[in-house]
Amino acid sequence: MEKNDLMEKIVSLCKRRGFVFPGSEIYGGLANSYEYGPAGVELKKNITDAWWQFFVRGRQDMVGLDSSIILHPKTWIASGHVAGLTDSMVECRACHTRIRADHLIENALPDMKVEGKTEAELDAIIQDNGIKCPVCGKFDWTPVRKFNLLFETSIGIVQESESKVYLRGETAQGIFLSFKNILDSTRVRLPFGVGQTGKSFRNEITKGNFIFRTLEFEQAEIEYFFDPENTNWEELFEQWKKDMWQFVTETLGINPTHLRWREHGDEERSFYSKRTEDMEYEFPFGFKELWGIAYRTDYDLQQHMKFSGMDLSYTDPHTNRKFVPHVIEPAVGINRLMAMVLLDSYREEEDRVYLSLPPKIAPYKVAVFPLLANKPELVARAKEIFDKLKTNFTTAWDDRGNVGKRYYSQDEIGTPFCITVDFQTLEDGMVTVRDRDTKEQPRIEIENLIKYIGDRV
Ligand code: GAP
Repeated sequence: MEKNDLMEKIVSLCKRRGFVFPGSEIYGGLANSYEYGPAGVELKKNITDAWWQFFVRGRQDMVGLDSSIILHPKTWIASGHVAGLTDSMVECRACHTRIRADHLIENALPDMKVEGKTEAELDAIIQDNGIKCPVCGKFDWTPVRKFNLLFETSIGIVQESESKVYLRGETAQGIFLSFKNILDSTRVRLPFGVGQTGKSFRNEITKGNFIFRTLEFEQAEIEYFFDPENTNWEELFEQWKKDMWQFVTETLGINPTHLRWREHGDEERSFYSKRTEDMEYEFPFGFKELWGIAYRTDYDLQQHMKFSGMDLSYTDPHTNRKFVPHVIEPAVGINRLMAMVLLDSYREEEDRVYLSLPPKIAPYKVAVFPLLANKPELVARAKEIFDKLKTNFTTAWDDRGNVGKRYYSQDEIGTPFCITVDFQTLEDGMVTVRDRDTKEQPRIEIENLIKYIGDRV
């Protein structure tokens, strides 16, 4: 299958089956925004829950946090986002299309390396290669300019500069702001990490490749604090890379041949990071960043100490040595994980399309059908089974069309098991349980259904 075809098929399936809808569609749409429909919200939530279980609840050295979207505006000055969360943009003077200079170059010259290039260098590449506007075809660009991605808003009814605040551009800063409170309110000792999931916002104005890059997105970030004198940061960094890889390949079931690591070179790496690597997934538009990991040293805590005047250091309980902890930060977008999961699980067979999602993250674990919707005795028995199952698993109900059509639609949603209640059921108390992947249909006693499905999901 052509790679672009796959993307089109996923976008269409997502709309058809209620995973992802274009944002604000009835008003003609809003670029780079999407709505998550009934199947999408379940899938997104399951990925988030799996992340939380794997990285927060499942570990003895991690705690969680849910900080605010609107933080004190000094946060973003201290963190460097007001000055540094920028994209280099150009504008076409003929049709006023604005586009990220690196995207413009990458689309026109796929082999050109653009990471870490300055505005002047990007300008020179565009001019030397005569790259035309992809919208109107003219070659009349403004010089490359920095454009800040933070969304601004204001608090209260008077729009004065003192009331200006930002929607958070990453969840990470909330963790640094609460660092002291977490130390004071829990029994954590270094090394320990804080995990957080929640919305972040960036004013992305160029084409986002479906839910890969959007204006608002769900981040899942960890700040792992440690004492640089007692912990070897390189070993810790490698251990976190292993954990990230294990989550993606085992929990999310991604084919490892579609993944790779790429280390940021000196030009690309943020000035405060000692090492940054991206786990990249092979999206239909090429290998792109899925999940970043950076050794941010003590940069953020030091900055917040400077700007707030508060002491954010840690005292070693054994030696009483006082110091500012360092951090390693694995940071991922849940929406990007979801895009990958949908692409990687898409399967086509002669007579059907299905999503081979790991049962743990599938939107519904099981669907229940009465063979015929106009036979009250079948509907009543199926309803009883539905009510019993729904307390244990996310369960779907379908009594429209024939059973073949119901299988077809559940396959496209990725439901691992479909249960049909037929006339035989009324006599022997057994139902057919159809397996999404093998299409086998064993008959199982109703009494054993919860165990049968529970063992497999
Ligand atoms: N705290 C570090 C940080 O935010 P980042 O590389 O800018 O680093 C981390 O973002 C992750 O968040 C990315 O690897 C990606 O998965 C996701 N992400 C970033 N911008 C996004 C956007 N506009 N839309 C969707 N996901 C995004």
